[in-house]
Amino acid sequence: MTESIIDARAVRLALGKGSARVDILKGIDLAIRAGETVALLGPSGSGKSSLMAVLSGLERADGGQIDIAGLDFGRLDEDALAAARRGRIGIILQAFHLLPTMTALENVAVPLELAGEADAFARAAAELEAVGLGHRLDHYPSQLSGGEQQRVAIARATAARPAILFADEPTGNLDGATGETIMDLLFDRQRETGATLLVITHDPALAARCARIVEMRDGAIISDRAAA
Ligand SMILES: Nc1ncnc2c1ncn2[C@@H]1O[C@H](COP(=O)(O)OP(=O)(O)OP(=O)(O)O)[C@@H](O)[C@H]1O
Ligand SMILES: [Mg+2]
Repeated sequence: MTESIIDARAVRLALGKGSARVDILKGIDLAIRAGETVALLGPSGSGKSSLMAVLSGLERADGGQIDIAGLDFGRLDEDALAAARRGRIGIILQAFHLLPTMTALENVAVPLELAGEADAFARAAAELEAVGLGHRLDHYPSQLSGGEQQRVAIARATAARPAILFADEPTGNLDGATGETIMDLLFDRQRETGATLLVITHDPALAARCARIVEMRDGAIISDRAAA
């Protein structure tokens, strides 16, 4: 029995081929309860993004056990993994990753449609309204500021009400004031949806807004504590 929505045990990851092969995750144990907010800190190259990649099913671990919302990710084939991610997991990255040929509205609506939502476009419009972008529905990413693009990314990630939100340096490409607004928005959406939030950041102010702070170094977790 597990009451953790994220339950990783002895997770290992090695990437690269031959002599370039490197151990990136060296036995990670991490359990996160539903609704918890967790900041993941650590120096560049310590494995934060790699850990997020295996927990979100984007990358397969080479060892250990990963249970997400009660599903054993190691046992799912690619299709099952994609289906498991859809609607359960929302991901927000530093570089927004919006589709350039789609409008803001389409960027949010299309994943909703793929997740089988009825009224995907109406829902998407409401989500964009909720992040303050109701007046930019038909704009393409290239016509939006960085902060606006990140709002679209947040709307897209939260639209399907995923149980888990992963954010990898969501304010890393934004100036201080814009970053702060985006942080507020991210935590607002987390509170409204009750999602579990795991956020990678170098920003102590952002980390302090989480209930728990996990620190990595060299592929391992070196500290795990409640935020002050
Ligand atoms: N495809 C790959 N092949 C080989 N090594 C890789 C690959 N991807 C990442 N790495 C290495 O894995 C290590 C961890 O990378 P990761 O991106 O997880 O770090 P990070 O903690 O997110 O760093 P940052 O704060 O700079 O984003 C780094 O040393 C990186 O060079
Ligand atoms: Mg990273």
